[in-house]
Amino acid sequence: MTIGATNGDHEYDRATAVKQFDESKIGVKGLVDSGATTIPPFFIHPPEALPISTSSTAPPVSELIPVVDLTGVDSDRRSRIVEQIRNASREFGFFQIINHGVPSDVINSTIDAIKAFNEQPTEVKSQYYTRDMGRGVFFATNFDLYKSKAATWRDTVHVRFSPTAPEIEDIPEILRREILEWDQHTRRLGEVLMETLSEGLGVKSERFKELSCLEGRVMAAHYYPYCPQPDLTLGIESHTDPGLLTVLLQNHIGGLQVKHDDEWLDVKPVPDALVINIGNILQIFSNDEFKSVEHRVLAHSCREPRISIAIFMDPGKMEQLYGPLPELTSPENPAVFRQFTLVEYFKRFVTKELDGKSLINFFRL
Ligand code: OGA
Ligand code: NI
Repeated sequence: MTIGATNGDHEYDRATAVKQFDESKIGVKGLVDSGATTIPPFFIHPPEALPISTSSTAPPVSELIPVVDLTGVDSDRRSRIVEQIRNASREFGFFQIINHGVPSDVINSTIDAIKAFNEQPTEVKSQYYTRDMGRGVFFATNFDLYKSKAATWRDTVHVRFSPTAPEIEDIPEILRREILEWDQHTRRLGEVLMETLSEGLGVKSERFKELSCLEGRVMAAHYYPYCPQPDLTLGIESHTDPGLLTVLLQNHIGGLQVKHDDEWLDVKPVPDALVINIGNILQIFSNDEFKSVEHRVLAHSCREPRISIAIFMDPGKMEQLYGPLPELTSPENPAVFRQFTLVEYFKRFVTKELDGKSLINFFRL
């Protein structure tokens, strides 16, 4: 029996098919390499979760996600940049940044390293395939494979950089130097973004740094290969990001979409740009001023893979109580979320499937 195929007259045993696929450790890339011309049924999403093919008369909404030019962020342009970031964070929860200071060759070598890792022989990659999230490094198809109602078409390398750094030898050598360098660049950029976001909220620049928000850094590097039936599945289902903010690098394939006024907008790849989005924790800190918005990635049938590298930035102190910033609340503008520790928050995040707004709404008063 091939992985995930329906077994003659027997009813499709989804749980067995998922387990068999997972234990094979071949990933979706392995299914493609084995010549699959259909996707296993456990990847098929119900029609309401799938994009409806729109006619070409639709307006060019893809231009709407703001692009912010960071040139002169430490000069007199800063107030203009802060205003653009604030407006984008309120209205879309997403923006792209250009002229952010990360060199093009660093961007290209990071993407190439993720590609090279995924394009190694299965025997090499499968050594890293695990669901043991306690490890600093893990590679798997869908971290929520056993919890989600339908699987999605991507393989992901996760590395936790901080607060506990991984054992260097645990990071696959093929991408080690590149991702460690990427962490350094995005940490520096994260600091600039956190300052401008604080200023946009009208709180002091160092506020997020003081709340340890540069200390929780996790990478999820995704490989979205060719999909033989891209209309039946997704690359990543609609969700919001749990943390403070996400810095995302995508290659040129495209497919990332953001929900805005009940419409899905494309986040068009812009050369050398980085995509920034507000996570649930920042929506909570800002007491609902900034929006953590639902987004998804479409599956695609390009022969070239889509590659994206997300750096999730979270506060690093697991036992501390977090909630709306006190300076943003008042008797007239009361807190709309309760306080919680990150232990409680992430426990809830990992025990359920990736989905829309239910995580943040759980903490809403
Ligand atoms: C994520 C995510 C988008 C992408 O990892 O949370 O939304 O483009 N990724 O891969
Ligand atoms: Ni996301």
